[in-house]
Parts: sequence; C-alpha cells; structure tokens
Amino acid sequence: MHRINNKYRDIGCGEIDVTYAGKEVTMSGWVFRSRDHGGLIFCDLRDRTGVAQLVFSHGDTGKVSELPVPSFFVAQHKLKAEYVITIKGDVRIRPEGTENPDIATGGVEVYVKELKILSESDALPFQLDEHIEISEANRLKYRYLDLRRPEMLKNMVTRHKTCKAVRDYLDDMDFLEIETPVLTKSTPEGARDYLVPSRMAPGCFYALPQSPQLFKQLLMVGGMERYYQIVRCFRDEDLRADRQPEFTQIDMEMSYAGVDDVIILVEGLIKNIFKYIKGEELPTPIERLPYDEAMERFGNDKPDMRFGLELKDMADLASLSSFKVFLDALSSGGRVKGLLGKNMAGLSRREIDLLTADAQALGAKGLAWIKVKDTFESPILKFFPEDVVRQMADRLDAAPGDMMLFVADKEHVVNDVLSRMRLDIAKKQNIIPSNDKFVWITDFPLFEWNEEDARFQAIHHPFTSPTDEDIAHIMGGSNIDLSKLKSKAYDLVLNGSEIGGGSIRIHNSELQKQVLKLIGMAEAEAEERFGFLLEALKYGAPPHGGLAIGLDRLVMLMTGAQSIRDVIAFPKTQKAACPLSGAPSHVDKKQLRELYIRLNVPDEKPAD
Ligand code: AMO
Ligand code: AMP
Repeated sequence: MHRINNKYRDIGCGEIDVTYAGKEVTMSGWVFRSRDHGGLIFCDLRDRTGVAQLVFSHGDTGKVSELPVPSFFVAQHKLKAEYVITIKGDVRIRPEGTENPDIATGGVEVYVKELKILSESDALPFQLDEHIEISEANRLKYRYLDLRRPEMLKNMVTRHKTCKAVRDYLDDMDFLEIETPVLTKSTPEGARDYLVPSRMAPGCFYALPQSPQLFKQLLMVGGMERYYQIVRCFRDEDLRADRQPEFTQIDMEMSYAGVDDVIILVEGLIKNIFKYIKGEELPTPIERLPYDEAMERFGNDKPDMRFGLELKDMADLASLSSFKVFLDALSSGGRVKGLLGKNMAGLSRREIDLLTADAQALGAKGLAWIKVKDTFESPILKFFPEDVVRQMADRLDAAPGDMMLFVADKEHVVNDVLSRMRLDIAKKQNIIPSNDKFVWITDFPLFEWNEEDARFQAIHHPFTSPTDEDIAHIMGGSNIDLSKLKSKAYDLVLNGSEIGGGSIRIHNSELQKQVLKLIGMAEAEAEERFGFLLEALKYGAPPHGGLAIGLDRLVMLMTGAQSIRDVIAFPKTQKAACPLSGAPSHVDKKQLRELYIRLNVPDEKPAD
C-alpha cells in the first residue's frame, strides 16, 4: 500500500514478513484479539492491509527492544478490543512451532518498544469475527463497524476495482465521463419516482432520475458521441435481495451504433472487468438467445444457462390424452409445458402437496406429476395411453428416479411457474455448477400487455427503437398488431440475473411521437413529459444506442455475495430505510412550510 511514512506508520500490519526480520517498524491499527500470558502479552493489530502479531514484554527482563514497564502495564490493563493504537517495535521470526501458516504475516511477530493509545473504544455491539450470528438490522445500524470485517473490505475493494476497470476500458474506447442532473424530471423506467419538492416553484417537484436515459440521448444530440457515467439511479419499487431504492449503473451511450456495436463494446468491457478482478479470460462472443426462444426453453427472459432442465412443450402429446385439465387449457388458447423433476421420484405425497402449493402460490391452478420408476406412477395416468407417457418421458429426458411435472394454463402463467420451479429444483438438487455463464437476450418485443391497466406498455422504455421492418409498419399506419412488434433491445444476463439492459433508440421525432401514441399517450401528455426530447430529435439527432449495467448486481455476482446490500457501503433495508442515519425521518414544520407542504398522514395508531 502506498502511504506517507509518518509518525503513525511506515508499514501496514499485513505487509510484514520474514524479509523484515530484525527491522524496526511503526504501525497503527485496531487491537483485534489479545492473550495475556502474564509476563507476555500477544495482541493482533489490524489495519486495512491485514493483521500482525504484537508481543508486549516488559523491560525488566533486560532484553533488548522491550516495552518500558509503565507502558507494559498500559498494554496489560488498558488495551481493549478495537482501541486504536500506534506502536514502534522490532520484527522477529516467530519461535519454531508458533508460526501461523493461515495468515500472510504468520512467520513473524513484532516486539513492541513504544505504545501509544490514539483512541479508545466502548465494547462493540457485536464481535467482528462472528458476523454470521449478527442480524442484518444490527449490521446496518453499525455499518461503520460491519465495514471493518475483512469480507466487507473485500467487497468494497472489488467494487472499486470494477469501477477502475470500467473507466480504464471506456477511456481507451474514447468514451467521455459526463455527469447528468440528479434533480430532474421523471424518466419512465417503470418504477415510481422519488420526488423532491421545489421551494422556488411552489407546488412543483423534481424527480430523482430512475436512470439518465433522456439526458444521455441528449448528449448524443449534443455531439458527445460516446458517453458513460457510473451513476446513481433512484427507483421507488418493491425491494428484494437484488434491488435497492438507490443503486448504481454503469451507463453508456454511443452515436452511429447498431445492436452489434453495443454488444461487442460491452463484451469487451465485461472481459476487461473479469480479467482485472478475477484474472479470468472470459470467452467471447457471449451466446445470444432471442427473447422468444428464451421464453420457450426457460420460461423467462433471464435464464440461468448453467444447467439444463429446459421446459418442453407438451401440447401435441397432451392432446392425445383424455385429461380435461390439459385439454381445456389447450382449447382455450393456453399451453401445456413439462419440466424434469430430477431425482424427485422419491417425494412423498405430502412433499408433492407442498410443491403443488408452491405452484399455486405462483399462480398455477395445480401441478400435474408423473413419477418415473420401474413403471410410471401418477393419479392422472389413467388419462394417458402408455406410449404417450413414454414419449413425454423421452422428451423430458426423464429416467427412473425422476419425476415429470406439468402445468397447463395461460402461457405466461405456465412460463412463470415452471421457470421458477426450474430454479428451485436445480438449487435443491444441487446441480448448478459454480462457473459464470453470460447470455444476451435479444429481439425483445417492443410492447407487452399490462393486464392491470389493460393497455400495452414499452417492455424496456418508450425510446427503444422498433426493428427496421416494424418502423415501416408503424409509420405506414393502419392495423398494427402491437403484440407482434419487435425492438432493437437487448439484456445481458449472468447466472440467471439481469445485469444489464439497453437498446438502439428512436432518433426520429415523428417515430417517437408515434410510439408514444401507440402506448396510449396523448400528444399533450407526451409534450408535457418528454417535449424537450421530442424537440431535440428535430435538430439532427444521430442514430444512437447504449446500455446500462447494474454495478451492484455485477459486483454481487463477482464476489459471491448473497445480496446487493453486501456490496454497497451504506445500503437501505427492505423497507427503504437507513438504520444508521434514521432516514427517512420527520422534518420541521418550518421546512415544510417553506416548501408549501401540508401533511395529510393518517394519525399514528396509539400504542396498545
Ligand atoms: P434498466 O432499467 O434495465 O435500464 O436498468 C439497467 C440495469 O440496472 C440494474 N437495476 C437495478 N439494480 C439494483 N436495484 C434496482 N432497483 C435496479 N433496477 C435496475 C439491473 C438492470 O439491468 N436506461 C436504461 C438503460 C438503457 O436503455 O441504456 C435502464 O435504466 O441490473
Ligand atoms: P383435479 O382434476 O383438479 O383433481 O387435478 C388433478 C391433478 O392435476 C392434480 O394433481 C392437480 O394439481 C393437477 N392440476 C390441476 N390443474 C392443473 C393445471 N392447470 N396444470 C397442471 N396440473 C393441474
């Protein structure tokens, strides 16, 4: 580690080894663990570089380089865990048999000659080496202590290095890092906005950006040609392990680019990151899977491609049966698909009931199953000719010991339920290899049907370009089947997690207006919300496109963390709160008055 050599230290605790034997060192850090052996005290000193073993022995023994008696008593009686101290001492080889091969500094120890306490510490609310036992609420409340754990340090280092690899690579590729506003106008990325009231304009609000989408497009109109930004985005949505209300994107946009250009650029970027962080040579090109095929084979648009268990269409075989559930689904335009329950023939009736309840919780009406043993076993066997069951087993690659699972329903229900069961089964059966598997999902539909609002909406965002063919359809007018339109959008998926998404954009004002109209946005509303973009597109907008990678998700997957909260220094809880600072919190009436805000919050329930 590079640092100024000063009165606090000339070396890091984790940096001494046998080559330092006989040298005098000055080190600072936290008291980690200590053991008092009467005349000798052993104490681990910890800083960012690692841990060194200190030895305090008092000068009465007459040996060289030992601590004066008064200071020895300070070490013996005052030093407690997490005190910050600075010491000067001599590095010595540890006596034979006392080496610790597990740590880098395990061959040496430092005989302390001078000791100074820089800062005292109360007893910690939790032990730093027992993090598994600590509740996350407590870890977040005392995040500054949690961050002292080596695992958190490692995550922060990986995050930093990822950003460095991004900056180095994109700089080489002539991208300019440009900041965009945080106090801005709503960008439609599909979530609720965080709003900030304006004092200057009574009754008006800024929206925090869900992404810099519109500004990066304006940067292309402004001639920047290649833009990137490691940027905070804000989305008020339901939170999960891989979602935070504020998260970070590696956001990119380039002019004069088509789908292949963006994909090749991002592959180079990811390759660079993996090489820098993991020392791995990521094979490229990354496989591309059209959206329709992903849905057919895996039931979703972020398939984990590290294992098989692909969903199989069973319509032809189901129609040869007399099973009403299947026949009804097919005749009403639905689907019947099957999934291999690997090694699951041994499930008890109760376990199958639980599995069925899972499927129902995910939206299915039921779950049909056939066990494969020496013979087939299932309550629905009577509805199927035996050779049909055999063909079903062949299609699913089911061998004795496996179970076949089927869902019959509307297509989206079948896909939703079976894709999640596919993951559950793979996890439970432990068949997911630990390698990394990227895949591009391409050829997304332009729109999707929103059942709740009974209207079509953009799958990515409404600035996504349709394919050239569909641009002709849209501009030609009349009788367009909105569900059939395709876009120039793509997502990057790593191990079943969507880590990036982007598209080639619309660069023509008329087409942009037309697309907004197709999703039911009246001209006045389009003008009010995106008028500035529509206008900019009139002044010679170059063709452009880009993508944004979820930095938190990428770092989570690279470090093996279970949640993106573990790779963010100060994250929010599932309830979007910060237990450390207490945000969000009430504010003064005066502040509200200045913002022209009167609260209309339901009275708090009195305590029981
Ligand atoms: P999109 O909405 O797909 O695209 O976001 C890009 C990537 O950001 C990550 N992400 C999140 N990570 C953590 N918490 C969240 N709440 C969250 N939401 C999204 C995902 C996702 O793939 N403007 C477009 C990009 C473009 O078209 O260029 C956009 O924001 O990994
Ligand atoms: P039932 O005819 O309702 O007794 O169902 C017979 C079997 O089919 C049970 O195992 C149900 O869980 C299953 N089942 C019911 N509805 C569906 C469905 N839509 N898709 C798949 N299996 C179903």
